[in-house]
Amino acid sequence: MTASFKQAERLQKLPPYLFVRLEQLAAKKKTEDVRMIDFGIGDPDLPCPGAIVKSMQHAALVNENQKYSSSKGEKDLRDAVAAWYKRRFNVKVDPDTEVCITLGSKEGIYNIAQAFVNDGEKIVAPSPGYPVYSGAATIFNNAVCTKVPLTKENNWLLDPADCPENARMLYLNYPNNPTGATCDLDYVKKVYKWAKKHKTILCYDNAYCEMTYDGYRAPSVLQAGHDAIEFGSFSKTFSMTGFRLGYAVGHSDLIAGLVKCKGQIDSGAPIFIQKAGITALELYKEDGATPPQVLKNMDQFAERRKVLVEGLQELGYECDLPRGTFYVWFNCGKSSMDFTKEMIDKGIIVTPGSGFGESADGYIRMAVTKPVDQIQEALRRMGKKND
Ligand SMILES: Cc1ncc(COP(=O)(O)O)c(C=O)c1O
Repeated sequence: MTASFKQAERLQKLPPYLFVRLEQLAAKKKTEDVRMIDFGIGDPDLPCPGAIVKSMQHAALVNENQKYSSSKGEKDLRDAVAAWYKRRFNVKVDPDTEVCITLGSKEGIYNIAQAFVNDGEKIVAPSPGYPVYSGAATIFNNAVCTKVPLTKENNWLLDPADCPENARMLYLNYPNNPTGATCDLDYVKKVYKWAKKHKTILCYDNAYCEMTYDGYRAPSVLQAGHDAIEFGSFSKTFSMTGFRLGYAVGHSDLIAGLVKCKGQIDSGAPIFIQKAGITALELYKEDGATPPQVLKNMDQFAERRKVLVEGLQELGYECDLPRGTFYVWFNCGKSSMDFTKEMIDKGIIVTPGSGFGESADGYIRMAVTKPVDQIQEALRRMGKKND
């Protein structure tokens, strides 16, 4: 008889993986010879700019770049991150004490709670929101999650007045996954002020700050002050999801705690990947404007988003054009799961809003990671009545 191994209690506490059943349904549909059109995963289909890939290839050939990095990250990439913050946000950060390189931003978002939250302390997570805040960051740290609902009436902006005053940590994310909502610097300053007053660690997830449209530019929490931590990512801006590279920038105590924690867990991102990160950031010139290599992809996402939003509106759904992220978020007029199953029947994969928080039941997220012709085909299928 083979042995069986029971998962640790904290792992058992992680919510069941919502998408398993959906994946099964989608797999079944595929065997019926239907070409599925997948808008589920937030992984850019467009390629990483060639110069970045070439610099990674070149760097990987060098012996020193095949060794361990450090948990804080290579000095030259930390310098490049600091220089990028100056160009992009006009914020001065110390590359030695205020910057840490992460293995994608997800790792930092999880480890910051590991480093600063004690058993039983409160973590505030927006709902709907990126599942790691209320999932691993809370559960693996024996913390207690307070989910604060985001609502359409409030433009999906978290209201600090709804947050408990004794929270240890608050995650905030704009441009927002899954709603596509964006905010201005005044709003960030308001939440920053609130967090400072209540001695709550503000973790600003800025993974989508460069994925914006129609002239909108996202702010950084560092423009409000240095008593917070911001997580950034190469994943979406440069189509580098598989490279697993991100950064944390902020208060030196928070960076030091994160680095100490990472020292026991990882030994830093591969050096040759970090070199590619330098090339990526240096695509931004002195004025901090979005470089053409990034704009090329963003223009395509902008066009797709417009086609999808207009198509959904024509079909009668309540849906706004997002100014940030590559997600289209709309009210489907029924339970998110029922709608998602109906879509699978039509050969379309979408993500149910309820997967990001129960309060978002009735909403659907679609990532515009497919070309316009496939979006149009999906809209045709959506509009077709079932027999
Ligand atoms: C809001 C948000 N934060 C962070 C991440 C993590 O991205 P990465 O770890 O690739 O940097 C994602 C990925 O989808 C996200 O949606």
